[in-house]
Amino acid sequence: MTGQATPVTVEEVAAHVTHDLRRAVLRPGGGDVVWPGDDDPATFHLAARNAAGRVVGVVRFSPAPCPWRPEARAPWQLRGMATEPAVRGSGAGRALLAEGLARVAARGADLVWCDARTTAARFYERAGFTVVTGEYDKPGIGPHVGMVEDLAPLNPPELAARLRTRPETPGATRSS
Ligand SMILES: CC(C)(COP(=O)(O)OP(=O)(O)OC[C@H]1O[C@@H](n2cnc3c(N)ncnc32)[C@H](O)[C@@H]1OP(=O)(O)O)[C@@H](O)C(=O)NCCC(=O)NCCS
Repeated sequence: MTGQATPVTVEEVAAHVTHDLRRAVLRPGGGDVVWPGDDDPATFHLAARNAAGRVVGVVRFSPAPCPWRPEARAPWQLRGMATEPAVRGSGAGRALLAEGLARVAARGADLVWCDARTTAARFYERAGFTVVTGEYDKPGIGPHVGMVEDLAPLNPPELAARLRTRPETPGATRSS
């Protein structure tokens, strides 16, 4: 899976900036790319741009109760994670996750959860998520597993250290 490192810049963007990649990667057979909660004030969207400024990855974070951890005090849902096929394995997804987790931790999140495609579960595991359900189907999309990451024990610098880009990756820079 590991490809040549592609430096990306991660920044917060408006929901509509994510639509093209959502459509191409997550809904290639059709289906809505505008989702409930996209424009909620607490929701934020991140885009990873390559050196030419093109959006090569997107993700959304929003506060939402976790179906599997009802006791979580401040749970956030990760949704709509997608990177362009040409950049996969080069760190764009990890850069988006790192920035998103740092931002929700700074907002007081104690848990992040997602419905993960089984094909992407290993990607999330590499960033500290754990599978907490059996497999379930999302009609028209495919098999998923529930995954969570506890943030409470970590402060933002610890999170950044856990998720930092590999030393050999010149990669992920941030802007806001
Ligand atoms: C899942 C996805 C976002 C990963 O993005 P990416 O840009 O390839 O991720 P990265 O390059 O930052 O990978 C980070 C690490 O995870 C690994 N990885 C990435 N995708 C993986 C996968 N599907 N299975 C196993 N490992 C994976 C990488 O090899 C890399 O490992 P390393 O730490 O040894 O270098 C991307 O493959 C994608 O858009 N897939 C299709 C849509 C999708 O499934 N989205 C998730 C919906 S829940």
